[in-house]
Amino acid sequence: MEGTHGLSPGTTCGYRRAVTDQTDTHAVYGAPPADVVETPAGATRYSPLVPGSQNLEDVAPGSLARVTMLAPPGTVERRYAVALALRALPVGGRLTLAAPKDKGGSRLRKELEAFGCTPTEDSRRHHRICIVKRPETVTGLDQAIAEGAPRLDDGLGLWTQPGVFSWDRIDPGSALLVKHLPPMAGEGADLGAGVGFLAHAILRSPKVEKLTLVDIDRRAVEAAKRNVADPRAEILWSDVRSTGITPASLDFVVMNPPFHADGTEDRHLGQTFIRQAASLLRRGGVLWLVANRHLPYEKVLAELFRTATPRQDTGGYKVFEAIK
Ligand SMILES: C[S@@+](CC[C@H](N)C(=O)[O-])C[C@H]1O[C@@H](n2cnc3c(N)ncnc32)[C@H](O)[C@@H]1O
Repeated sequence: MEGTHGLSPGTTCGYRRAVTDQTDTHAVYGAPPADVVETPAGATRYSPLVPGSQNLEDVAPGSLARVTMLAPPGTVERRYAVALALRALPVGGRLTLAAPKDKGGSRLRKELEAFGCTPTEDSRRHHRICIVKRPETVTGLDQAIAEGAPRLDDGLGLWTQPGVFSWDRIDPGSALLVKHLPPMAGEGADLGAGVGFLAHAILRSPKVEKLTLVDIDRRAVEAAKRNVADPRAEILWSDVRSTGITPASLDFVVMNPPFHADGTEDRHLGQTFIRQAASLLRRGGVLWLVANRHLPYEKVLAELFRTATPRQDTGGYKVFEAIK
């Protein structure tokens, strides 16, 4: 069944309609740079990192005419996304894949060939671009989809998925924070909550009345929903900058903020998280934060909080307690 997913030009599964009706059925995955590949206006967005966008996992086989994808950097995650795209296309449907050369781009062609495709390859602005027409017979899609799918990791004791932050190990910074975190009380948030590792520890305190977990990655949010089955928890697929949480309403925020965006270090992102935490906390509310030692967060903490006290500085990580 995997060979064609039952679709060929002669079937009645919508193939002929799909390949001619490109405005309705052109999907874009990720955010391909406009100067690398063109994405038609009106294409539907399918990206786990864009809140509110559609889910490629849910697309019926053969129902998209074209997919344009900025391929993710991780090999398992990339093969998973490409396999989902090939499954979503009918025979003859077009897949345009782009990736920076040093983040999977140089492997795109071989990976597509392994799926039974015959890509053309081009280079632009440090990216490789491969274009394929979905062939009649593809191989290995089911295996790639199974390898990249959500799973319960017995070692972690958590649901997780390749591609989410620290998906197959506990982040040492988060482990340090949990070790030194006192019991929280009242209403709070875990900003950039990932699959819910910190939230587990926070919810051990019976004095916590409500905890809002926020993450921009749908896969992490789905995993967190399975990992944090506590009626006090609310789990939001959202950018931390637009959560809808009432400003100055929280008693506490706990977080291990991100410092990478699109695979490169972005110190401003962590500082943005600190600003958001400050705006959500009531006066007297507390922020517990862990960060890699080299990240410059002291200045922004001093500006926005009445006190900011280093509580730990171990193994390359620092933990702060800051009072609004
Ligand atoms: C360093 S990880 C921490 C994950 C988790 N709290 C832990 O300790 O394992 C940071 C998290 O922030 C999320 N993130 C990145 N940018 C975000 C944004 N703009 N809004 C919300 N979450 C974001 C990432 O998806 C990632 O899960």
